[in-house]
Amino acid sequence: MEKLVIEGGRPLKGDVKISGSKNAALPILAATLLTQDTCVIRNVPKLRDTMTMLRLLRSLGKIVEFHKNEVIISQRGKLSPVADYKLVSTMRGSFCVMGPLLARLRQAQVSLPGGCVIGVRPVDLHLKGFQALGAKLRIDGGYVYATAKQLRGASIYLGGLFGSSVLATGNVMMAATLAKGLTVIESAACEPEVTDLGNFLVAMGAKVTGQGTPQVTVHGVKHLHGAEYTIESDRIEAGTFMLAAAATHGDVTIHGTNFNELFVLIDQLEKCGVKITRGKNTLRVKCLKKKMQPASVTTYPYPGFPTDLQAQFMALMAVTPGLSVITEKVFPDRFIHIAELNRMGASIRREGNIAIIEGVKTLHGAPVMASDLRASAALVIAGLAAAGRTEIHRVYHLERGYENMDAKLSKLGAKIYREKE
Ligand code: EPZ
Repeated sequence: MEKLVIEGGRPLKGDVKISGSKNAALPILAATLLTQDTCVIRNVPKLRDTMTMLRLLRSLGKIVEFHKNEVIISQRGKLSPVADYKLVSTMRGSFCVMGPLLARLRQAQVSLPGGCVIGVRPVDLHLKGFQALGAKLRIDGGYVYATAKQLRGASIYLGGLFGSSVLATGNVMMAATLAKGLTVIESAACEPEVTDLGNFLVAMGAKVTGQGTPQVTVHGVKHLHGAEYTIESDRIEAGTFMLAAAATHGDVTIHGTNFNELFVLIDQLEKCGVKITRGKNTLRVKCLKKKMQPASVTTYPYPGFPTDLQAQFMALMAVTPGLSVITEKVFPDRFIHIAELNRMGASIRREGNIAIIEGVKTLHGAPVMASDLRASAALVIAGLAAAGRTEIHRVYHLERGYENMDAKLSKLGAKIYREKE
């Protein structure tokens, strides 16, 4: 086990290249189950979560080669319909193999993903979608068993208590590609990762339209063929580096990011007094210390403020003088980072799904515990901004979703290194 050590107080300066999107890669890799032909997927980030997905695909019968962010997935024998507990329990995104398995094999047995520190993480919307397509479902011993003689298109409302669901939209969209007839998904998630998945399915010969809008239409086809595809860059990684640049009063140019996917963060940062300059596919983030203003955000499904940037934004507000308020509407319990930030001298109070942040002049380095992917990113940002030494334990949480984060930060002038626990 390793810990990350950060000597804080140094402004980040220079250029950073963003990796491929984790949350686009996971469902797209799962979608290769929909065909026995070979697929080549490029710009796949090398992360714990994507490597877990590749292990799961191998366990289901796929032949998988990973080299320099390119994955070649082929198949010789038959696929297995069983996604085992060990792999699904380590990464809940694995649940999105259920739609492809059900569509391809007309049966699937997938372990119910557990909850995690950010919330209960139910899958009722996924199951609602599969049932609407004609699947028979049974839950037994922590597994969902699904069978369907023939999936049939349907009109499905996928809105939940907390709005649309990213992976439920992807799971049902994938299942519908091989169903007989027309499927219309109402209240579909509009996240760019859903658009990326829809575009990959179209490259495989699926008849999908409306991906990235609240209404997705799928005309079922008999079979899908292999495809080559390059995954979009990771907007959450880009946003994380933008917030790290702002929190350290730095000057960072972010390469390979899609400006349009970050509008809401750009708008908030400009309100806080951060200077953002748009290039061809670059964003330059410059922050002058004296100009920072507090801000208040509420997280919503896309195109609202992303819940996956909430913790990182809180780290910035923790060192921004004045009162800020963050309301979390997607995962109301996603505040595990508050306690750790307060250990570093932040002044943050939680009232239900609302966090009230009294910005302080300086945070102080401390040993802190990573617990969830984005909470860990918030602790890195806080450590970079803090005076003194911060030790982040359980750094594997960070490696689930950020490719070579410490190397990228070192290149930007951060004093960050690993030590044995
Ligand atoms: C995806 O998770 C992302 N993960 C999450 O990113 C992200 O936070 C989330 O979307 C929201 O943007 C991947 O794409 C692998 P949801 P997902 O279903 O699809 C409720 C990260 O840090 N809900 O959109 O599982 C749910 O409880 C991760 O990269 C139901 O009620 O999230 C939540 O309140 C963390 N029933 C809301 O919907 C369901 O069947 C949105 O969740 C499914 C979800």
